[in-house]
Amino acid sequence: MNKTHQDIILPGRHTALLLAATLLVAGTAFAQDDETLTKQVELKEAPEASGEGYFDYPGMDEIPEGQFGEAVRSGMEAFVNTLQHPEAKRHVGNGQNCANCHLGGGMAANSAPLWGAWGIYPKYRGKNDHVNTMDERIRGCFTYSMNAGDSEAGGPPEPDSQLLKDMQSFMFWSARGAPLGENLPGRGYRSVEKPEDGYSISRGKSIYEAQCAVCHSGDGSGKFTADGKQIFPPLWGEKAFNWGAGMHRINTAAGFIKYNMPLGKANPVEKHAALSDQEAWDVAAYMNSHERPRDPRWEGDRTTTAEKWHDHECLFNHKAHGQILGEGTK
Ligand code: HEC
Ligand code: HEC
Repeated sequence: MNKTHQDIILPGRHTALLLAATLLVAGTAFAQDDETLTKQVELKEAPEASGEGYFDYPGMDEIPEGQFGEAVRSGMEAFVNTLQHPEAKRHVGNGQNCANCHLGGGMAANSAPLWGAWGIYPKYRGKNDHVNTMDERIRGCFTYSMNAGDSEAGGPPEPDSQLLKDMQSFMFWSARGAPLGENLPGRGYRSVEKPEDGYSISRGKSIYEAQCAVCHSGDGSGKFTADGKQIFPPLWGEKAFNWGAGMHRINTAAGFIKYNMPLGKANPVEKHAALSDQEAWDVAAYMNSHERPRDPRWEGDRTTTAEKWHDHECLFNHKAHGQILGEGTK
């Protein structure tokens, strides 16, 4: 049986957050030690769900007692409340939690669910020409999506650290009974084809102001409580994902936005969209036409960095709002 959107595990913060959402709608040194983290895995689109729907991941009440259960709980906390988790937060250099881009606490189909990811690693990638493990994948997410270079620890968690063990215990637990090596329906994000006439940053601005700014703020900085707890994640600026994160690509962002945003209107599990393909591309382009933390793979200048790392659908080294993008917020 398929879980509905409401059944998705929503640990504490999320329940409050969704409630808030519903109401609204109605400089440290960068420790890059490892060439293997320099490129993100690009995902192949998963097949559509058949009649049986999506993989039936376990419920919270199925977390066992004992050390393994503790690891699962800690890993879940690190994923959902990354900014609060005592160990994980030391590796966060911006204002993000992992679950900000993996909805339903990492369980929602079509929102890059962890149960879909677990069984496809280790995975060979032609791009960096070696077999990538889940350990590396998570460290990559810290490096780019969580901008770990600017964190207290100065980089992603160490290989084989307790934090990576906990996060992988959570993923492994969520995928119990899932077939290995299969591209499961609901894995990753849906891809949204680029509209024939491309996209428009200025149309995207209007969409953003009408449908997104209420939560993410007009200047993209999100919303935080006075004591620094995240209410709505930042989308650009110094607290956002950096220029190396998958989300800075317009196609990837459009795929995420189409079935996940605006929160409460779109629904990834029911594959319900609130925006047209064109609107998703326009608003994704507007979001990604602003500065964000520097690409950790910086090659000394914008042009060289663009040539080496940005041969894809993005605005790095392009002009927007009167300025060439890519220098980074610091
Ligand atoms: C800013 C948004 C964002 C944040 C924050 C984020 N991710 Fe991701 N994640 C993505 C995107 C986008 C992809 C797909 C990558 C691509 O297409 O290049 C992805 C992919 C993944 C995958 C692989 C999924 C698959 O099916 O292969 C895993 C595992 C993952 N992320 C874990 C994490 C973890 C752990 C964290 C926190 C440390 C995190 N993510 C934080 C956006 C994010
Ligand atoms: C009702 C409030 C609300 C509205 C409206 C809304 N969002 Fe969000 N958005 C959120 C929340 C909350 C999250 C994090 C979800 C989570 O942690 O489960 C999020 C996450 C995101 C992310 C993930 C990236 C990141 O860096 O964290 C993007 C991109 C995004 N929203 C874009 C948009 C766009 C574009 C619109 C308008 C079309 C929009 N949102 C409208 C509340 C909202």
